[in-house]
Amino acid sequence: MPTCLACSKPVIPWISFGKMPIANGFLTPDQVADEPRYELEVGRCQACTLVQLTQLVEREKMFHAHYAFFSSTSTRMAAHFEQFASGAKTKYLADAADPFVVELGSNDGIMLRHFAQAGIRHLGIEPSANVAQAARDRGVRTTVEFFETELARRIVTSDGRADLIYGANVMCHLPYLHSVADGIRELLHPRGVLIFEDPYLGDIVEKTSYDQIYDEHASYFSLASVSYIFGQHGLEVIDVEALATHGGSMRYTLAHRGARPVTAAVQELRAREEQLRLHEHATFEQLRERIYRSRTELHALLTRLRAEGKRVVGYGATSKSTTVTNFCGLTPDLVEFISDTTPVKQGKLSPGAHIPVRPYADFASRYPDYALLFAWNHAEEILAKESAFIAAGGRFIVYVPTVRVMEP
Ligand code: TYD
Repeated sequence: MPTCLACSKPVIPWISFGKMPIANGFLTPDQVADEPRYELEVGRCQACTLVQLTQLVEREKMFHAHYAFFSSTSTRMAAHFEQFASGAKTKYLADAADPFVVELGSNDGIMLRHFAQAGIRHLGIEPSANVAQAARDRGVRTTVEFFETELARRIVTSDGRADLIYGANVMCHLPYLHSVADGIRELLHPRGVLIFEDPYLGDIVEKTSYDQIYDEHASYFSLASVSYIFGQHGLEVIDVEALATHGGSMRYTLAHRGARPVTAAVQELRAREEQLRLHEHATFEQLRERIYRSRTELHALLTRLRAEGKRVVGYGATSKSTTVTNFCGLTPDLVEFISDTTPVKQGKLSPGAHIPVRPYADFASRYPDYALLFAWNHAEEILAKESAFIAAGGRFIVYVPTVRVMEP
């Protein structure tokens, strides 16, 4: 029986997706024969409720010098981080004489550049060397390392304590949660705040967005599990904010226990989690049934379209799509190629399913009949810019919350 990342008690397996490739492991044809696979299984800790992977891929296999995910591919995400930086400056840094901001998983500097440009002391921590270099090129001070207690101590010695520690879509990547939480406790100034945002378990349950489940996402947080984990390290959740990013995320703000007042939003979210029955195993058994149904329906729809001679192209070679293509058995036969704007993904094959990834120009120069919206979390941005595709008779297929062809 696997044991919990947060409390070491037994984890009850809940759903298995079978053997999966590395979600961001886009590959060349000569790498196909050696493509690594691992078991993707999710479980729930009955003691502390943390939903988590039961088997983990070594972190060096996921985050390295050829990491394919560059945060700056979405203009909406760029705006999201700009807004965060400007809000955090006024809300949390106004009183600090010489503020210091640390970001975990700072990627290509999409957020920290706003602090760099304002001349505010900052440090990005990013284990993937290629994206870290992109950040440095923008003037963002970045160290290429994994964050753990030992690094936190070194930073305290070199730079002092941090007034703001931030992480977007990174805490859920870190299975060694206690080392991270302990490092944060040491690094955080007595009046400082830790703010992090990750896909929210409540949204996964409500939207059946099972594609959030892949190797990089070791944990699927709720207020209950975050409070439990960080509470063991003297930190408490003082505020929460639901976000639309990544298909439904939660931003948690934490401080040293007793250092700052707790907002009403925290109690409200606690009540919502009761209502959603996030603490009950039956909720996850029902979700599992919806996931299986979604797979059957998506495969059936694509099979029918192929029989009708329609062309279907994937839109956005997301990490999430690796779970969908492999779990639902989507082959290049059903999905001709995946259009993606990220140069390092182009010309490669999608992990596991080996669907070719091509530049956006290949989509725009010859529209398919259907675009399978793998980047459904950017639907608003994408639909707004794809009016010509729709006008030409093209249609988007989505599978969250249910499988359907979108009407214009
Ligand atoms: P992302 O939303 O970060 O999803 P994940 O975390 O699952 O990887 O990735 C979006 C992907 O979609 C990225 O590879 C860029 C691509 N993309 C496009 O090709 N066109 C677009 O208009 C947008 C917004 C994204």
